[in-house]
Amino acid sequence: MSKSILILGARSDIARACAQHYAAEGYAVRLAARDIAPLKVDATDLHLRHRVAATTHRFDALDTAKFAAFIDGLPELPDVVLCAVGTMGDQSESQSNPEAAAIVLRSNFEGPALFLGMMAERFETRGSGVVIGISSVAGDRGRASNYVYGAAKAGFTAFLSGLRNRFSRSAIKVITVKPGFVATKMTDGMDLNPRLTAQPEAVANAIWRAQAKGRDVVYVKPIWFVVMAIIRTLPERIFKKTKL
Ligand SMILES: NC(=O)c1ccc[n+]([C@@H]2O[C@H](COP(=O)([O-])OP(=O)(O)OC[C@H]3O[C@@H](n4cnc5c(N)ncnc54)[C@H](OP(=O)(O)O)[C@@H]3O)[C@@H](O)[C@H]2O)c1
Repeated sequence: MSKSILILGARSDIARACAQHYAAEGYAVRLAARDIAPLKVDATDLHLRHRVAATTHRFDALDTAKFAAFIDGLPELPDVVLCAVGTMGDQSESQSNPEAAAIVLRSNFEGPALFLGMMAERFETRGSGVVIGISSVAGDRGRASNYVYGAAKAGFTAFLSGLRNRFSRSAIKVITVKPGFVATKMTDGMDLNPRLTAQPEAVANAIWRAQAKGRDVVYVKPIWFVVMAIIRTLPERIFKKTKL
């Protein structure tokens, strides 16, 4: 029987590239998103192009009460779960509107962490599984320009780290992906340095390679590892004066 991957936030540009990559490798693909109507086109395309099973499933990362029933309703417990759910939000709005900030915190941290935690429990019962969470370099250090999003991603990164640590002696693998800038809907209109910006297909490639090689944390463009190492080590008295 072929392996399968569950992709959460399947309408994301990064997620769509991952779906193509895993389907090309023969994986059945379970696409999950809030609005499944547009996903059906993707599912048909994946099926015709790669001759794999592709299904669509309604999923809202904020609806934590429905997570268990959602997992029970899947065609099978997948071999791999990949979470691409996220929202950048608007930093200035988050500063003045706690409800807007809560959506950013819950969409990037609470929902993804709780869901992947539940999947890991199911994987533990079965004895195998791969958990992949797309976090962000924004979580490596809080910056004035996006610290609500960054704080949520920092929480998600820490959660994935703990999960990986817990399952380190088992066949359950946990991969944290820190893509750096990626040219997607999320960054549309932003003035991004091309040397620091990846395409969604490059992210999908990096994720596939990380799984194949059993890697733990992936910076898609290696330069981001260096950039963030420098940013993390800047003393606070200098860092607080920077405009990053
Ligand atoms: N682009 C970058 O530079 C970059 C950098 C670092 C990390 N990331 C992370 O990469 C992941 C994918 O982002 P992307 O760049 O591909 O952007 P994107 O195209 O905007 O994808 C984000 C996806 O998250 C989904 N989503 C948001 N809230 C949700 C909820 N409550 N329930 C279910 N789905 C929800 C959105 O669904 P709808 O289609 O329904 O709106 C959207 O498809 C995100 O976690 C993002 O934080 C992106």
